[in-house]
Amino acid sequence: MTSPPAFAQAVAALAPRTAVVLGSGLTSAAAAFVEHATLNFAAVAGLASPTVAGHRGRIAVGEWAGIPVLLFHGRLHYYEGHSWTVVTSPIRLAHKWGITRIVLTNAAGGIHPALTPGELMALRGHIQWLSPTAWRELATGQGLSCPYSPRLVQLLQSHERTQGRELFCGIYAAVTGPSYETPAEIQALAVCGADAVGMSTAREAEEAARCGLEVVALSCITNRAAGLGETTLAHAEVLANAHRVSTRVGELLRRLIHEPHR
Ligand code: HPA
Repeated sequence: MTSPPAFAQAVAALAPRTAVVLGSGLTSAAAAFVEHATLNFAAVAGLASPTVAGHRGRIAVGEWAGIPVLLFHGRLHYYEGHSWTVVTSPIRLAHKWGITRIVLTNAAGGIHPALTPGELMALRGHIQWLSPTAWRELATGQGLSCPYSPRLVQLLQSHERTQGRELFCGIYAAVTGPSYETPAEIQALAVCGADAVGMSTAREAEEAARCGLEVVALSCITNRAAGLGETTLAHAEVLANAHRVSTRVGELLRRLIHEPHR
């Protein structure tokens, strides 16, 4: 583990342009990443250690198949008691360090019938259920209100087709948590057009777009959303299923990392 100045120096030396945020249980998606330097969230002013299992709270700089990459192992959540400023500060840090593309990954509950545990969804828009104005903030994937790059989503879809798979592309509903939703809330989200539900990503994506970063986000479907599956929701199930899809996530991350920047 390095000090913040030594880490900043390592970042300057490698000059990564892509950052990846690994969500719950997705650490093994980065098996191909070779670390040069690491920094604990807790060592950075304005950040804190994550309190959630499956989130390591470490920043690393290194190489992924020969390409320099900045990697966030885990993230901070609003439900852990952090302000939105703290939750989104890794994004501003990445921007300050010269990052121009960010890949956000998360674990999510599947609402659309096709989104069963082990599936992946590329985000083409989100519904922000995170603030009092939530009902008015429906981002359908059009115009400036959508932070996600259609070009990168298409790139992922083409890549998946070459592997004989289809990549589901849909709408992510971001809720505050910390408890999972009620079945009635999931019915309401389904009527509003949500394909998957989770407790992160939307604010980070918006902050990244505001900073001028190219943004792409992937949800790993770890469970059927409340009331839609047979099992009771549990964080352990989320972690185990995220781990199951991490090889496919790793392949998609590699494809994104190799894509030339705008
Ligand atoms: N709801 C909210 N967040 C989640 C879920 C869910 O069902 N699964 C993983 N993260």
